Amino acid sequence: MKTLVLANQKGGVGKSAVATLLAHHLVQKGQRVLAIDFDHQGNFSGALRRSKRPTAAGITADRLLTDAVTVMPSANFVVVTGDAALSMLEAQPTLHTPFARHLRAFLAAMEQHFDVCVIDTNPGPDIRVIAALASADFVLSPIQLNQEAMEGVSGLLNHPRAGVRKIKAVLNPKLQLIGLLPTMVESTPFQRANFLQIVQKYLPLMIRIGGGPGDFAAIPRRSAIAEAQAHGELLWEMKKTAARDAWKDIEPTIRALAAIVTGQRQDRAQPEVGHGTAA
Ligand SMILES: Nc1ncnc2c1ncn2[C@@H]1O[C@H](COP(=O)(O)OP(=O)(O)O)[C@@H](O)[C@H]1O
Ligand SMILES: [Mg+2]
Repeated sequence: MKTLVLANQKGGVGKSAVATLLAHHLVQKGQRVLAIDFDHQGNFSGALRRSKRPTAAGITADRLLTDAVTVMPSANFVVVTGDAALSMLEAQPTLHTPFARHLRAFLAAMEQHFDVCVIDTNPGPDIRVIAALASADFVLSPIQLNQEAMEGVSGLLNHPRAGVRKIKAVLNPKLQLIGLLPTMVESTPFQRANFLQIVQKYLPLMIRIGGGPGDFAAIPRRSAIAEAQAHGELLWEMKKTAARDAWKDIEPTIRALAAIVTGQRQDRAQPEVGHGTAA
């Protein structure tokens, strides 16, 4: 089983929407998917549950940190819902190490039962994010193309507790940063300029999906994506043309991300997050 964590210290950047699209896509491609929602707002698990596709785990995600959980329902698509109890965990610092150990043991116990575990996280580098990164194989960071997002990239890499560099050095050397995924990209001149600026500044962190100069993974802003999320629909199953067009636009990105996580794409070098990287 490969574990992917979606992380960005900012809220509203499209983490949960990307997590939802990826989880449904992986299931569609025949992967056994375990979806875990570490955000107490529950936007990822909410969208999945509304779709009625996954089996509910029967426990909330906080229990994966607080208890020694070793069993999940026997199904090819299972969701562990996020709820309010998750936001209490940060305030129990003496238990943070056991929290991280519980999650690691749980994921190890799931190894034979699922192919991919997708973990969506809350904004804010707290114990949920740290525990998830401490046991994950991959981290993907959806970002919006604005000044704050650019500042957020530095936090993603360098935050003293939850930064990818720190986690790799201290807790989890196998963690791979897939890279930055610009989301809600609009084709305004302002956004285009920002996109170029980000690409130039963070080129090693951009995710290539083709050989052309602008072939980087990105998710455009499309109302159909928000609707799919709100109604629990699968974008590619929605009838209206706008949804089909949106899926056509994002499919190469979703497919490339799925291939990286499932190990079907080995041609890519891991982004360098050593001291030479910008940010
Ligand atoms: N590509 C997109 N186009 C249009 N709306 C989007 C897109 N991605 C996300 N949204 C919407 O924007 C809001 C915030 O996205 P969400 O995925 O919940 O962000 P986060 O998980 O980072 O807080 C939600 O209402 C969501 O449906
Ligand atoms: Mg979210």
